[in-house]
Amino acid sequence: MSSIPANDLSNQEGDKLQKTSVSLGVGDQIPNVTTTNSTSLPGLSQLQEVFELGTGLLLPYAFQPLKAIETYLPGLASMWPFDITSSFNPSKDIPDLSGKVILVTGGNNGLGKETILQLAKHNPHKIFMASRTESKARDAIASIKSQISQDVDIEYLQLDLASLPSIKKAADQVTTRTDRLDILVLNAGIMAVPSAKTAAGQEIQLGTNHVGHFLLTKLLLPTLDHTAKKNSPDVRIISLSSAAWQMAPNIDTIVSTEKLLAQKPWTCYGASKAANVMFAAELARRYPQFTSVSLHPGMIKTDLYTPNLEVNPLVRYGSLLMGGLIFQTIEAGALNQLWLAAGARKEEIKNGQFYTPVGKVNNNKWATDAKDGKRLWEWTEQELKNAGY
Ligand SMILES: NC(=O)c1ccc[n+]([C@@H]2O[C@H](COP(=O)([O-])OP(=O)(O)OC[C@H]3O[C@@H](n4cnc5c(N)ncnc54)[C@H](OP(=O)(O)O)[C@@H]3O)[C@@H](O)[C@H]2O)c1
Repeated sequence: MSSIPANDLSNQEGDKLQKTSVSLGVGDQIPNVTTTNSTSLPGLSQLQEVFELGTGLLLPYAFQPLKAIETYLPGLASMWPFDITSSFNPSKDIPDLSGKVILVTGGNNGLGKETILQLAKHNPHKIFMASRTESKARDAIASIKSQISQDVDIEYLQLDLASLPSIKKAADQVTTRTDRLDILVLNAGIMAVPSAKTAAGQEIQLGTNHVGHFLLTKLLLPTLDHTAKKNSPDVRIISLSSAAWQMAPNIDTIVSTEKLLAQKPWTCYGASKAANVMFAAELARRYPQFTSVSLHPGMIKTDLYTPNLEVNPLVRYGSLLMGGLIFQTIEAGALNQLWLAAGARKEEIKNGQFYTPVGKVNNNKWATDAKDGKRLWEWTEQELKNAGY
């Protein structure tokens, strides 16, 4: 498990904070994380946050406990005798990827890094590791290369999804380097971070997780289309969503920056993950020549949880107590996106749908409501147009 640098919360909260170690699960220490002092007690808003998180994620499954297990504890569900996809093994079940060009956002860490590692084992022509923090990307490329026997071309691509100029620059770099793109994994994400806006003015989580990926995909559409026509009809765009789509507000709030900014961080995360589902479904409606799906990966011990662990002692203690039961390994957590990106045959995937681990269609209203999908698409295009893109 990678170490996480102490972030600048310590500057904001001064003496209340101290460096300590946080464990997300049995035996997994994350050293050097800045957290609130262990003597700090949770406040009312933090209690409320945990209550809303629990009810938001669990209540929808009140009458479907088996579905809840499949969604949140896929490792346990995979032991069921009737589970058919649990045997997916990326090392042997992903076919040869010769000639294919792949781009993974957020590839320097967590699920994105594991996705690149597993895809790299199958001889692709090239992989772009699109990442924000260059030093982490360089380390990740070295680590991946040290784990595979063949020489794979993995190129670092500077990408900050909260910055439209950075996205344009990254897309330009891709199109000057290749006229082929077979697999686009829209994986990068932030979760439950404090309220803020992107430079272009969107709420930070919706702006990063959805608007940024929307622009990147839009700029790469000609390359994806060229690939589908000239190289291979099997072009896939995989959007990392989450079961947290259930915490999203209604569509009116999602497409109103003012209303969204008035929501709590988990609601904004839910909005961004609902947007990922709507985007994947609408992309499939508008561009049926591609395979475009969204997915929930499971609950996995990654750095995604760090911002929330730092500010909410209840979430931190809950993770300490329950982490070993709840969290999966990164290897297991990447299975769903690996199955959709390369493990499954094109005919096995249902275009535009939402998948839970591994390879199970588990649709929700955001995937099926074409009116909301169209509304989000048009809102996003207008936001980008207003910003000159
Ligand atoms: N882990 C889970 O339990 C879980 C559950 C449901 C859904 N997901 C989804 O899975 C995806 C991957 O998350 P993870 O768990 O692997 O988290 P992670 O280890 O924290 O990785 C997140 C990645 O996103 C990148 N990123 C963040 N902000 C960015 C920005 N502005 N521009 C470009 N890249 C940015 C990070 O790069 P830097 O490190 O350089 O910032 C990092 O590579 C996310 O979309 C998340 O919503 C995860």
